[in-house]
Parts: sequence; structure tokens; C-alpha cells
Amino acid sequence: MKWDKRDLLGLEQLTKDEIIFILDTADSFKEISTRAIKKVPTLRGKTAVLLFLEPSTRTRVSFELAAKRLSADMVNISASTSSMLKGESLRDTVRNIEAMKVDLVIMRHSMAGAPHRLAGEIEPGVINAGDGCHEHPTQALLDMFTIREKKGRLKGLKVAIIGDISHSRVARSNIWGLTKVGAEVVIAGPPTYIPPYIEKMGVKVKYRVEEAIKGVDVVMVLRIQRERQGKNLIPSLREYRKIFGINRDRLKIAKPDALIMHPGPVNRGIELDPDVADGPQSVILEQVTSGVAIRMAVMYLLSGVKSENPD
Ligand code: CP
Repeated sequence: MKWDKRDLLGLEQLTKDEIIFILDTADSFKEISTRAIKKVPTLRGKTAVLLFLEPSTRTRVSFELAAKRLSADMVNISASTSSMLKGESLRDTVRNIEAMKVDLVIMRHSMAGAPHRLAGEIEPGVINAGDGCHEHPTQALLDMFTIREKKGRLKGLKVAIIGDISHSRVARSNIWGLTKVGAEVVIAGPPTYIPPYIEKMGVKVKYRVEEAIKGVDVVMVLRIQRERQGKNLIPSLREYRKIFGINRDRLKIAKPDALIMHPGPVNRGIELDPDVADGPQSVILEQVTSGVAIRMAVMYLLSGVKSENPD
């Protein structure tokens, strides 16, 4: 397959074949991170800018390591150290970065659609590293990569996504991606965390976690995103934990070999008990490892397009 997209804004825009192609490309990059010398010259001479206007540990470090392992040059910009603090608009900031002839802009922003807007205005490829409650495409790709690596397939698997679906870009990207590749997705959470009409995305909705995780292959647990909630949508964290938290007893309802996943950061003892987060079924840190390979693959594919089609 020939890759012909210059931006990665979400999984909504990708076909099943494009998603599988990224996962297959990441397969070939994963081994590089296990070498003593973790570096190849693939993107030598390319420059990527990390423009993170929201906090991040995993995504930011993962993109930076991916760039370094491919020998690309990487520049970091954060809201607190840029001229945006002096009132410069995001558009002006990015147009100035573009003027310095970079190849990729990797952006995290609290507003849904911010990377889409920029992609329409600038020449460098844009990678969405999370836009508000909308999409987080590389997270869903690394989640699918991890599931495929552990289970040997994606098609026909049952995946439960539990928690704060309304505020979760991870949930949205996973729903787009997993349903396109033929997995069955069921979501569960308190009614205040379930967006209206979400069934139209091809998922089943349950309001009892026990019903959602019965017999599933994967339990994907989401963080309660208190920073995005204007008012209290649940009575208390204690009650949430009691009714929706994933603990050892609840996990027994899923298949015995079900994977426990979480995009991080984890609110330990709220959505996920520590002994499950660190238990034998957890692949949370393997998700993080997969993230570097996925981001190497995405940067590689998008950079190839830019070098071949400069218009
Ligand atoms: N999963 C994820 O996006 O984590 P960070 O916010 O730490 O990047």
C-alpha cells in the first residue's frame, strides 16, 4: 500500500486498510527500541516540532523518543515558555514555526478541532496528539497494536471501554479504530459520562459495568477527567469506585485471559485498583512501549509523503 496522507488528525478519517498499514509499519519499527544502539538514519534531515499546549508525559516523551530514534531533529514548544504567553495567537505561532521550514508539527490542544484547523493552513504535516475531548489517534493505534500483539488478531474480539466516555478522546479514537477493524465494542459508565447518540458509532451501551465486561477479551479502563468537567457529574469518587471501579472480583467476569488496559495517567484506587493495574493481566506499560513504535511509524509515513509531494 502507498501512504498518501500528509496529516494524522483522527481515526475517523482513516480506512481499515490504512489503520492496519500503520500497525504493520510499527511492527517493523518496534525492534529498534530493543537494540543497544537505538537509532536508525531513516528521518535524518527532517525536523519535527512538538507543540504541547496541555500537560503530557507519555505522548510527549514517546514522540520525542520516536523522532530521536529515527534521527529526526526535534524542537519542543510549551505554552508556558512560548510567546503565546505574550498574547500571540496559536495561528501566528504556528505560521512562524512553519517559516523556519519544519516538516511535522505534533500538537496537543485543549480545543477539539485545533489541529484540523491548523492542518488546513500550513504546509508541514500535522499530527494530532490529542484535541480536547475529540480524538487521540496515536493512543488508539498503540492500543490496537498492543491488543493485536497479545491476542494475534483484532477482528472478532470483544472490547469493553469503561468510564468517562464523554470526556475521552481515547475512547472516541478507539471506537473509530476498533469498529473499523472488526472488533466488537461495548461501553459502560454512569449516564452522565455516556454521550447521547454514541450508539451511532457502532457500539453497545451498558450502564452496569458487570454487563459490559462479561466474557470480553479486553477491558479498557478510562481516567475520570476531572479537569474537563465543569460540574460534578458523579456523586463522589468513592461511589464511582464502588459501582464502576475495576477490581479483582469484577475482573473475573471478563474472560480469564482478558487484557487490562489504561491509557494513563491512572487514578489508582478510583477507576482501577492498584493490584489490577499491576497484576498479571495488565498490559499498561506494554501500551507505553508500543507507543514509541507507533509514533515512529506515523512520523515515517507522514514524512515520506512530504518529501515526495512537496506541494
Ligand atoms: N495517554 C496519554 O495521552 O498520556 P499523557 O497525557 O501523559 O500524554
